[in-house]
Amino acid sequence: MTQQVFARIAGTGSYLPEKVVTNDDLAKVVDTSDEWIAARTGIRQRHVAADGETTGDLAYHAAVRALEAAGVQASELDLIVLGTTTPDLVFPSTACLVQHRLGAAGCPAFDVNAACSGFVYALTIADKFIRSGAAKTALVIGSETLTRMVDWNDRTTAVLFGDGAGAVVLKADTETGILSTHMHADGSKKELLWNPVGVSVGFKENEPNAGVRINMSGNDVFKHAVKALDSVVEETLEHNGLDRHDIDWLIPHQANLRIIEATAKRLDMPMERVVVTVDKHGNTSSGSVPLALDAAVRSGKVQRGQLLLLEAFGGGFTWGSALLRY
Ligand code: ACO
Repeated sequence: MTQQVFARIAGTGSYLPEKVVTNDDLAKVVDTSDEWIAARTGIRQRHVAADGETTGDLAYHAAVRALEAAGVQASELDLIVLGTTTPDLVFPSTACLVQHRLGAAGCPAFDVNAACSGFVYALTIADKFIRSGAAKTALVIGSETLTRMVDWNDRTTAVLFGDGAGAVVLKADTETGILSTHMHADGSKKELLWNPVGVSVGFKENEPNAGVRINMSGNDVFKHAVKALDSVVEETLEHNGLDRHDIDWLIPHQANLRIIEATAKRLDMPMERVVVTVDKHGNTSSGSVPLALDAAVRSGKVQRGQLLLLEAFGGGFTWGSALLRY
């Protein structure tokens, strides 16, 4: 009988750009306030990449930290998957740029665009490579420079987003690791959360930033996010024959504290067992789940052997979860 192989997190890392923009800073630019932003979203500040600092730079720093934590050399990697919706270039993929910088030549490296679910999608793909025996050591990254798409004059979106990256190194393990992953998408709701320009559709020459901007119907996205996350959490528990009280830590996408609280309520989970970092960096899209995970690991909250539930929801719509024994 062939032995079951799991993908286990061997190390985590993250990186936030140096520049911090507080809610009070934003209130000087648009008609908003720290009270409004904190009450509606839980966000207090966000990090903004410096001029010339790219998604690939953030990803590289997070990856180096994850490799160090795992005690793995870049040359040992046999897969790199990077979730992003703000790649450095149209091509090559940001994963290829990071691969070169790490000195990990030869292994497959590619990007996954699932907006805010990018890391959960990337983790799922890497898990399947490891389970199938196609890879033994994988680097999974979520990295974004979302502020490059932000219209700083639009208070409905400018207050929400930030830049950042997180990464994990996965190693094949015969004992335990990722127990299940669940991915979903619904392309019919495109207009509720989208960026209306691109290479193939074309850019808008007469608009600021060539028309590149986040368009979001916040209220609708909120409702869809809560419903989809409720359902994927149920699906994950049922698939594993678990009770909601079995989960040690919820590590959610950090978009809005009220969405996070709704999922915690569904799990009957006290907020002390939910990792919340949205106050410190806002919505970093693909970067958010691994940023929260790394913060929880490095602070000593998350311990080896504990059961973690990761989940995310984003543009597409896309959503998904991963249940793992850390
Ligand atoms: N400051 C002050 N007032 C504001 C601001 C602001 N920054 N933004 C909006 N308002 C006003 C509105 O104009 C409105 O005023 P009105 O009542 O006079 O018309 C009022 O505040 C309420 O606006 P709503 O949009 O109804 O506020 P809501 O409670 O829905 O909060 C928010 C908005 C925070 C955007 C929320 O809907 C949300 O978080 N949605 C989900 C976003 C999300 O999770 N996205 C995830 C994926 S992102 C990705 O994939 C890239």
